[in-house]
Amino acid sequence: MVAAVKEAQQAGKPVAPKLPAQPAKPKLPVKEQKVTRRSFWQMLSSVTISPFAVAWTVMATIGGVWSLAAARFLMPNMVRELPSKFKVGAISDYPPNAVSEKYTASRGVWIVNTDQYNGQPLLYSLLAICTHLGCTPSWLSGEQKFKCPCHGSGFYITGINFEGPAPRPLERVGLTLGADGLLEVDKSLKFQEELGQWSDPKSYVELG
Ligand code: FES
Repeated sequence: MVAAVKEAQQAGKPVAPKLPAQPAKPKLPVKEQKVTRRSFWQMLSSVTISPFAVAWTVMATIGGVWSLAAARFLMPNMVRELPSKFKVGAISDYPPNAVSEKYTASRGVWIVNTDQYNGQPLLYSLLAICTHLGCTPSWLSGEQKFKCPCHGSGFYITGINFEGPAPRPLERVGLTLGADGLLEVDKSLKFQEELGQWSDPKSYVELG
């Protein structure tokens, strides 16, 4: 190439000027692939709505429901009932002509000391359930009666109904005096006055 130029110069031919070398083109940097919010959700939705994902989700849901049902069937009932028998203290804890509400909220019974039922001083336990539709009456000491807030039934201290729609007296539950000198209520035993069951010695404790 240089020799050819020299020959052309010697022959008096015009020679084209030498062009400067072109600078090397800089390599373009590889574009970073930005994961935009939109592309992320597009990617996620393409995964989640694929048939495989749908089938897997359905199968997992059904499996989970079956597992829960099986566990519920196999596990013992965790709702614990309170024992029907429980101690309520000594006779001296219950003064005459009074209704004790000590166990009404927690165990649903009153302990009554009175001689108004048959002239004998007795201790007995009344179930705090109205015999009309099952509401919980209140003891009104000023009026010496149990009063049901639902429909107005009233019961004497004896438990006998005298006003309102209640069709029969309150029920007694078992009450006995143990060898340890403590009274014990047994809610598994029920005694209804209209059936003559209040004469059962398990339904009261006779006092002095
Ligand atoms: S439930 Fe007690 S009066 Fe109706």
